[in-house]
Amino acid sequence: MEINNAEFVISNTDVTKCPASTFPEYAFIGRSNVGKSSLINMLTNRKSLAMTSSTPGKTMLINHFLINESWYLVDLPGYGYARRGLKGKDQIRTIIEDYILEREQMTNLFVLIDCRLEPQPIDLEFMEWLGENSVPFSIIFTKADKLKGGRLKMNINDYLRALREHWEELPPYFISSSDSRLGRVEILDYIESINKEVNKK
Ligand code: GTP
Ligand code: MG
Repeated sequence: MEINNAEFVISNTDVTKCPASTFPEYAFIGRSNVGKSSLINMLTNRKSLAMTSSTPGKTMLINHFLINESWYLVDLPGYGYARRGLKGKDQIRTIIEDYILEREQMTNLFVLIDCRLEPQPIDLEFMEWLGENSVPFSIIFTKADKLKGGRLKMNINDYLRALREHWEELPPYFISSSDSRLGRVEILDYIESINKEVNKK
């Protein structure tokens, strides 16, 4: 799928104020700094459509980007950013949970995982919570450019092994780099295939 058009629409803390259209949407979630906003820029071929930063906690709102005038990419705040303080963390958690549980247009959630790290309890617990709430999700391993081939494969395999301890069936997964653009075609094709299914209904 080609992206011919990408535009920022609105930022929100309140799921009820997100765009009223029925277009399918694909949201990006994961720990602060994992590369959610960078991935949105990479997928859309735009340098700074979504705001990125080397300081964790950059994205604080639900951000809607309209793609090809027919579906949305949604940039969410990261979870697990310690320096936000308890109150800030609670606010972000509420924003994320309300969006995920209440947003009917949310067709698939991409959970982003830094391919350099061993499986982190916070991510495993988050995915478990998604499962309990029957939220459809897929995994994107990010920052693949930071690991050499053998090491990358090993880390991904270790991660999949940890997932199999919790899950009978693995969710779809992708390996990406916003620097080298690895994974772009696969992720966009996947979105396109879901869009087609949604439009059939
Ligand atoms: P929050 O909005 O704070 O939750 O973070 P985020 O998940 O949106 O991360 P963001 O896209 O802002 O990226 C965080 C940092 O990681 C930035 O310094 C990016 O340049 C860097 N980064 C993101 N993706 C990649 C990647 O694929 N490769 C490399 N080498 N760096 C990346
Ligand atoms: Mg961000």
